[in-house]
This record gives sequence, C-alpha cells and structure tokens, in this order.
Amino acid sequence: MTRPLILENAEIVTAEHQFRGYLVALDGRIIETGEGAAPEKGQDLEGDYLLPGLVELHTDHLEVHFMPRPRVEWPALSAVLAHDAQVVGAGITTVFDALRVGNDYDDEKFGARMRKLAAAVADAKSRDITRAEHFLHLRCEVSCADVVEEMEPFLVDPQLKLVSIMDHTPGQRQFIDVSKWKTYYAGKRGATEEQLNAIIQRRRSIWDKYGIINRRAIVERCQRKGIALASHDDATLEHVEEAIQDGMHIAEFPTTVDAAIASHKAGMKVLMGAPNVVRGGSHSGNVSARALAEEGVLDLLSSDYVPSSLLLGAFTLRDAAAIGGLPGAIRLVSKTPAEAAGLTDRGEITPGKRADLIRVAWDQDHPVVREVWREARRVA
Ligand SMILES: [Fe+2]
Repeated sequence: MTRPLILENAEIVTAEHQFRGYLVALDGRIIETGEGAAPEKGQDLEGDYLLPGLVELHTDHLEVHFMPRPRVEWPALSAVLAHDAQVVGAGITTVFDALRVGNDYDDEKFGARMRKLAAAVADAKSRDITRAEHFLHLRCEVSCADVVEEMEPFLVDPQLKLVSIMDHTPGQRQFIDVSKWKTYYAGKRGATEEQLNAIIQRRRSIWDKYGIINRRAIVERCQRKGIALASHDDATLEHVEEAIQDGMHIAEFPTTVDAAIASHKAGMKVLMGAPNVVRGGSHSGNVSARALAEEGVLDLLSSDYVPSSLLLGAFTLRDAAAIGGLPGAIRLVSKTPAEAAGLTDRGEITPGKRADLIRVAWDQDHPVVREVWREARRVA
C-alpha cells in the first residue's frame, strides 16, 4: 500500500480560507485537511504557507530556452526540460506552453520550429520526465495569411487545450497607437522606418483580405473540437461583443478598463499579466492589472514572459480591494485558471482534488518556493 503524504504545521490557503493545520494526501489526491495537529506524525512545514500548485495558462518562456540567442536553436527536448525546471521552481505545477501560429516576421522556419517544440513537449510527457504537467496554448495571429493552414497539425494534438485569437495588425488593439508598434517591432527586429512602413502596409492589406475569414475558421475549428478559446487585447465594447458571440471563455490582456468590465460581466475570465502587477503597469502602456483588481474585474493572472512573476504577482495583489485577501489572490493563479481551461481536478486545496501543492516561505518581503509536489510526488 502506498504511504500517505502528511504535511503539518502549515499555513494552509484554500479557495476561501486560511488556517494553521495539516493535510493528508494519498494516491495523488488530497484526502483530508484540518486545523491543529495531524492525526499522525507528518512533515513539519514550520508555519510556511501550503498553497495549491500554480496553474499557468500563457507563458512564452519555452521559446526563450529553445532560441537562447538570435539564430541559435537549442535541442528541443533540452529546452523543454530547462523550461520545466524553471516553471516548477516558480511553483507552477500545470503549465500551458504558448506556441504561436501565423508568421508575422517573414521567418520561413517559424512554423517548423513551433511544431518541433510541440513534438518535444509530447516526447517529454510520454517519457514522464517533466516535473510540471504541460499542455499547449496555441496563439493564432489572424492577420497572417497562413494561420489556419499552420494550426491544422496542432488540432489533432491531445495536449492542445487552449487557443487564443490575436490581432497584432498595426493600428489595432494592443497597437492602436502605430508608433508603439514601431517601437516594439523595431526593437525586436532592428528594422528601418522605411521597412517598418512597408510592413505596416502589407500587414494591413493582409488583414483586409483574411482577418475576418481567419477568425471565423479558427473559432469554428475550436468549437468543433471543444477547445477553450481566449480573446486577446480586446480594446472596445465591439471587440468584447465579438468575443461573446464566439463563445470565448477567457479575455486575455484587455487593454482598457471598459473592455475588462464588459468581459467580466459577460462571464469571461479576465486574464492579466503578473509582470504588469510586479512592475506596477503594462509594458505597452495599456491598463494596469491592479486597477482591474481594485475594480473587482480581475479573474486570473499569467506569468506571460517571467515565470516567477506568477507567485510574486499574487502576493503583491493580496491587499487589493475586492480581491478577498490571500485566498482570493491565490485563486487568481490556481483555481480560476484551472477551471477556465477545463481542468476541474486541480487548482484548490480540498479533499478530492489532485495533491499539486507548494510550500512557500515569506522571507521579509518576498515569497520563496521551498518545496513542490505534483500529485503528492515531490518534484522540487
Ligand atoms: Fe498582444
């Protein structure tokens, strides 16, 4: 018979409450929690927090490990394992690795690279060598002519559980101000003003031709397959209306307070970047996540481009009005993202759920991940 995992003297944070007590898990599931001493001797957590393992829906960090320098392609499996170590060390036990389809950078190897990464994630998963559980989040750029064709091979991949629809055409949504697009793109690609203007022209004409058709085709495919959908960078009430019509579950990075309020009211889960919380604002000058939290319309956080921001972001927001203290702040990075992506077996410390758990010490002014368990198995 397998031995139970017993953790005691822990500051346990459930979806609604916080108390000093113990937890018992067996065969990968939580079977009991309670206040005070454990029924039999367990591991003493010395008063540290015991939180649900974090659930990350949108990280592009895998690409960073795969291309650690421009034009340097690292072996994909090695990149997956390095990325996995970083996310699990940040307290993330379920991660949706974001891969992009729709090539907006004139890079012909782009699609092949994304497929190679998806294959490496599947390989690592089948060998059971990752510590966090990995799924895929496909980010589809509708302003690219080839996006639907490029997404097809991913649709048969059982790891794919979330698709977001993006439109980064200069002059739209995140880049409603074209000069911001120019700064971002020039920084990324080192293009001249003339080249940038030519790209803007081309991207706009592609959007005119394919933008709406592509969006329809992607929504239709995801609905048929039962894959959760996310809208991206909604800025106006028209964008939100369109997302509602398309049956979207998540509103990623709404750029205005009005769009966030309307999305939340319509039942979509409003996702903002944890780096936005940690830095005190958006890197592209859009709405602040804290402002949405204070407004009561922030539902979940994502680490976006810095894995360690997820836990730090949640702790940073625990004093925000309308968040509901630490339990509410932790829900932003555990229960709500799990449910929004259709994973109802995890994300919360309660009997019956998976024993995905993290031990976190509060050191002066910073949360420190000290131990991580996935399905009661110690993984970090
Ligand atoms: Fe965006």
